[in-house]
Amino acid sequence: RIAGPCGLVIFGVTGDLSRKKLMPAIYDLANRGLLPPGFALTGFARREWGQEDFGQVVYEAVKQYARTPFRQEVWDRLAEGFRFVQGSFDDDDAFDRLEQTVADLDRIRGTSGNHAFYLSIPPSAFPVVCKQLARSGLSAQDVEQWRRVVIEKPFGHDLQSARELNEIVDEVFPEDSVFRIDHYLGKETVQNILALRFANQLFEPIWNSHYVDHVQITMAEDIGLGGRAGYYDGIGAARDVIQNHLLQLLAFTAMEEPTSFSSDELRAEKIKVLNATRLVGPLDETTARGQYTGGWQGGELVRGLKEEEGFDPNSHTETFAAITCEVNSRRWAGVPFYLRTGKRLGRRVTEIAVVFKRAPHLPFDATMTEELGQNAFVIRVQPDEGVTMRFGSKVPGSQMEVRDVTMDFGYGTAFTEASPEAYERLILDVLLGEPSLFPVNEEVERSWEILDPVIEHWAAQEKGPDPYPAGSWGPESAQQMLARTGRAWRRP
Ligand code: BG6
Repeated sequence: RIAGPCGLVIFGVTGDLSRKKLMPAIYDLANRGLLPPGFALTGFARREWGQEDFGQVVYEAVKQYARTPFRQEVWDRLAEGFRFVQGSFDDDDAFDRLEQTVADLDRIRGTSGNHAFYLSIPPSAFPVVCKQLARSGLSAQDVEQWRRVVIEKPFGHDLQSARELNEIVDEVFPEDSVFRIDHYLGKETVQNILALRFANQLFEPIWNSHYVDHVQITMAEDIGLGGRAGYYDGIGAARDVIQNHLLQLLAFTAMEEPTSFSSDELRAEKIKVLNATRLVGPLDETTARGQYTGGWQGGELVRGLKEEEGFDPNSHTETFAAITCEVNSRRWAGVPFYLRTGKRLGRRVTEIAVVFKRAPHLPFDATMTEELGQNAFVIRVQPDEGVTMRFGSKVPGSQMEVRDVTMDFGYGTAFTEASPEAYERLILDVLLGEPSLFPVNEEVERSWEILDPVIEHWAAQEKGPDPYPAGSWGPESAQQMLARTGRAWRRP
């Protein structure tokens, strides 16, 4: 579907996200013919840029990060709709100028009064920007023209602050005009969890505590945090990734089938499962946190977090976090869901592994099944998107020896279409007013409610996170966390 007449205003347009993700996604959408002819992109920032500087920055971002090939005619048409407004968030004048710019665009470009405001800014700036949008009349909408606000995470730093932010945003925008971005939901492989589960007869009958032993959700990154101290120090891996991406993945994996894929039905099922999700304790044993130290990674000598520029040398910020949850429902009672994420780990991989119980009886000589593990169904979110199934098979030969084998589905071989970037899909959905892939207020608050006790527990400890060398799979405490129950993390 192609978006109707509209414009997008980005606050925080000089930031990394805007350059690496938002600007390229907008170009890619234009290139695929999914933006309206008169689309307008307005940047708002403190930087003393002229219109041309702004155009140049977008151009460079597109050249470097866009997924689709550069086409001059697409670029020229898009660039005619670029505007830049210079100012700070507390500057009434700047917002009045923005209001004027938007009104001019309606006249000149035909954006028809429909505008989305993308807050790619720290949450501490949400209140002032929301107030300015209200004061200047920019948030005012009616039946003829829509106004929407897009909010990037982190959405607060705990339940209390998330509630306060929600109240501020709600005062200015009705809930159906608020689009909270969790870019994981824009990923094809994440949406595919629902297709795999609910379009097939094969998996759903065994997707429950009768057959599933446990679930492991991993988001591992090999990159470090150089250059991100301003955002990350004091935030840490649990807030940065578990509160949003990993709990959303849990929700998709564990939820019941929605009656339809309408946003209301889908969100209602997600809320239900998040409401049933609890931490498993005692937290000393069922959680782990770590911080990377220097070491060799991929043939390169890298620094530890404490040596990274801008980080407090005594920082207690965790760069690895793991927690244990359970979902209190008939389907999932007693099945642990292990969630882990970390920076500077062995490799970049995000996956959901559903690990099944062992067969209740093996009619083989025990020595013939020594290399037989547990069956697993692994959704490979990224990279190398696809699904792996692991099961036992007879080893060719005269004996009945059984060993694990895998069966693979890969996007690269099954489909010729390349997956769009997550931000592309999500920005288009904002412009179309399609809210299904955006978590609501209640999901965000519930996710904090689940996580807050872990963060408080860690903060109350004198000792900081456990060190782990760059390039490893996290601290020893993370291995122990599973070993206590006789389980082990997968080595993706
Ligand atoms: C962001 C986190 O939400 O996701 C980052 O703030 C992280 O710390 C990033 O690096 C990872 O996204 P992706 O799509 O590369 O897995």
